[in-house]
Amino acid sequence: MEHDQSQPRQPGLLTRIRRSIWREPWPETDRGRMRLTLNDLILHLHAPRVPRRALRVTYSYGLGIIAIALFLILGFTGVLLAFVYTPSPDKAYASILSLQSQVWIGALVRNLHHWSGNLLLIVSVLHMLRVFYTAAFHPPREFNWLLGLSLLVLVALSNFTGYLMPWDQLAYWATTISTSMLGYIPLVGDSIQHFLVGGSEIGEFALRTFFAFHIVVLPPLMIIIISYHLWRIRKDTFSLPRGLDEPPIDRRRIERVTTIPHLITLELALGLATLALMIAWSTWVDAPLEDAANPAHPPNPAKAAWYFMGFQELLLHFHPVIVTVVIPVLTAAGLFLLPYVDADPRPERDVTGVWFRSRRGRRLAALNALAGIGVTAALVVLDEFWLDLPGLFPSLPTVISNGAIPFGAILWLLGVYYWVLGRRGATRSERNLALFTLLFMAFVTLTVIGVFFRGENMALVLPWTT
Ligand code: HEM
Repeated sequence: MEHDQSQPRQPGLLTRIRRSIWREPWPETDRGRMRLTLNDLILHLHAPRVPRRALRVTYSYGLGIIAIALFLILGFTGVLLAFVYTPSPDKAYASILSLQSQVWIGALVRNLHHWSGNLLLIVSVLHMLRVFYTAAFHPPREFNWLLGLSLLVLVALSNFTGYLMPWDQLAYWATTISTSMLGYIPLVGDSIQHFLVGGSEIGEFALRTFFAFHIVVLPPLMIIIISYHLWRIRKDTFSLPRGLDEPPIDRRRIERVTTIPHLITLELALGLATLALMIAWSTWVDAPLEDAANPAHPPNPAKAAWYFMGFQELLLHFHPVIVTVVIPVLTAAGLFLLPYVDADPRPERDVTGVWFRSRRGRRLAALNALAGIGVTAALVVLDEFWLDLPGLFPSLPTVISNGAIPFGAILWLLGVYYWVLGRRGATRSERNLALFTLLFMAFVTLTVIGVFFRGENMALVLPWTT
């Protein structure tokens, strides 16, 4: 049959299948083909166009992207370490030593893994602070805040389980301190401790359990939640930076740029800069490694890993039930509920994208940061040298005299402070910001005191005198 020249010719079946896979038009050159495939992949993960404002680095500081870069470095170096490391008490330390001295760039790989893990925790907290202070967790991004919090917990757990791996004195005793804190949890504490440690002492069982969590359980969980987190950003849209007196942004009228090359260039630049800095740092600064673990010789002071030192410091001041149950439960509840109670639904009161919400918010953030440091340091010194609550109420159990009484008093004062701020005209979101800043800086101060100002027998010392 003769072909009708006026109708476009139907391509053959194979061509149609190929086109449906690769999406025509199909470039002729190999380079063009590669670029098309890559672009396809990128546009699966990103929207094709993004608001120009969203690319302002002084808004997000690229912290989420840096976190992803660190996560990738951790994954890559972790796989390499797994080829050499042996998770058993009599071989673990030796395998780390041989990695450092006999394996080509083994020390660099270990340093990279160690420093990236610690930095990921810091960067995740900074990213959370950015999201909090720009109100980027207000609807529609409230669920992504919850995913972020879960990620923060998983990052902390990954650091915690990894800490034990080198099986040196530092690892052994820090883990002993942290897991013994779990034992203070009423009713379930012993069972959790038994599940993780397998007995009263850290040994073969604990190392195997921690290793399994560190490489089999936590990383896949994180991959799943990070992917979901990123997908939600695309779905909820990225919040946009806004000046103090700028009205809420009409997203339909803003300038947009194409993801390729604008956003991709930024992501690549941040990723490569993170990698370069981490390599440079890890070339010069070694990850700590002390003598092999010796269960018979605890160091004095025996300290938890730095990110748990805030809790260890709190244990010196409050009854363990307050530190291991009440404070974590209240903190988790507060942070998880925050996005559902913080935002004002009236569109004209929307503060998303404004750093510190308002002028009052800025003042409150600065004042409460200073107050958080000053008051906490003063209370620690007061409790160390003068205050003796169990001595003051000898007939009461310590869970009351050193728990309910001081902690209840602090909660009551915080409640009054919150109420006074409201009476003076602060919005709910500004009051939450004040309280969050106060408590966050209090925890940072406790951590700094625990890490630097505690010496033998956990007594207060000046770091430069030890
Ligand atoms: C492993 C940890 C994390 C990774 C890899 C990660 C990754 C990212 C990335 C790439 C972005 C977009 C760009 C940016 O803001 O830099 C983002 C945004 C966001 N993240 Fe995370 N994140 C992590 C942890 C957290 C935490 C701890 C929170 C809060 C508790 C959080 C809450 C959010 C929210 C609400 C957004 C949307 C921000 C907006 O639209 O302005 N993320 N995250």
